[in-house]
Amino acid sequence: MQNAALVALGLNWRYLAFDVHPDELRAAIQGAKAMRFIGLNLTVPHKLLALELVDALDDSAKRWGAVNTVRFEAKNSQGEWRPLSEFTDSPTDIRSHGFNTDADALALSLHEDLGLELNGAKVLLLGAGGAARAAAFKLFIDSNLEIFLVNRTHSKSISIAHELLPLNPRSRITLGYPPGPVDLLLNATSLGLQSADPLPLDTTQFPLSRAAAVYDMIYRPAETPLLKAAKAAGCRVSNGLGMLLYQGAKAFELWTGQPAPIETMRRALHQNVYA
Ligand code: ATR
Repeated sequence: MQNAALVALGLNWRYLAFDVHPDELRAAIQGAKAMRFIGLNLTVPHKLLALELVDALDDSAKRWGAVNTVRFEAKNSQGEWRPLSEFTDSPTDIRSHGFNTDADALALSLHEDLGLELNGAKVLLLGAGGAARAAAFKLFIDSNLEIFLVNRTHSKSISIAHELLPLNPRSRITLGYPPGPVDLLLNATSLGLQSADPLPLDTTQFPLSRAAAVYDMIYRPAETPLLKAAKAAGCRVSNGLGMLLYQGAKAFELWTGQPAPIETMRRALHQNVYA
């Protein structure tokens, strides 16, 4: 999707994939800087490691505790750090600036793909790993809602709840399954990546018919067992492809300073993921 977007904007850049051992992440970021890369995306487990390795952290990365996008920057004549894409010469003093575009992408995808208004909503969040944590913080802080946390390892939900509580007095947090209906059930566990996986929740404690909408952060397979069961139960459903799209679009805008060609990116993403 990034290369399709670069072509659409007529930029003579390329987006490439590199397999980097976590022990060499520091050297890889230094190398990219030395080679005047415009930016990078990082995925697991580098998202957490990069927090300690970039020269500057945007609030988005600090707040979500993970870096998924790096932008290389240099100082302009006024002494301001600006994206390398803005320079026609070859600056020498370059810094790496870490951002996180995942959390905003989730909120955008929930709105676009499920028509969800999060303010005042009741949300059941499954999971307490990196993805769940980012989702919990984003939803809890930015919207005034009620969130229910369920995870196999209960202690991890408890520690997220402790961190969240002071951050928004107008949102509410409960550990365990909700007693009644919810507006959104959000799966942020890895259950569903394999076709033989069980459902990520106990439907005797929470029947799917109690969820108006179900979002699965997984996008491959396109229909997880959870989404299949949710559809059968009459819920509105969406997989996580929209989140992948919007995190990429936001990264593209950070690097280029131009609006991302969303439909071009969406088409390319569909072709690559599902064709
Ligand atoms: P990510 O960065 O994608 O969130 P992660 O941090 O490894 O990945 O988190 C995976 C999530 O899926 C966790 O909530 C994990 O539950 P635990 O905290 O109990 O490990 C959940 N998960 C993974 N396998 C699971 C399984 N077999 N049953 C229930 N939950 C599972």
